[in-house]
Amino acid sequence: MTKTDENLKIAFADESQTNIEYLAYAHRAIEEGYVEIAQLFREAAGAEVVHALNHLKTMRVVKTTRDNLKEAAEGESLQIVSMYPKFIKEAEDEKREEAAESFRLAFEREKHHRTMFQQALKKLD
Ligand SMILES: [Fe+2]
Ligand SMILES: [Fe+2]
Repeated sequence: MTKTDENLKIAFADESQTNIEYLAYAHRAIEEGYVEIAQLFREAAGAEVVHALNHLKTMRVVKTTRDNLKEAAEGESLQIVSMYPKFIKEAEDEKREEAAESFRLAFEREKHHRTMFQQALKKLD
């Protein structure tokens, strides 16, 4: 992997994360009554999506829909089989109930996502 390939990965992850953070900041700004500041965060959040999508395009990771469905189902599987069960247990061990609940909620939905992708793939075959 070249330096630029590594940088694209980092920049993609950073832009994606920033997008979600700005949406959360907009939500908080609304709660605090700052409607115009919320709009600033939303506008920037939208731009970060464009940056992230451009990086992703350059990384050539978006394939055909059939391949993307396979990739997505495998990604969801990874979260279901190894990531979330481990994270839930570790959060429980550390008595971090709020984190454990957040992981459990996502874990349950990932099962639904995997099923959706697998069914769509079957229909294509
Ligand atoms: Fe950006
Ligand atoms: Fe998912």
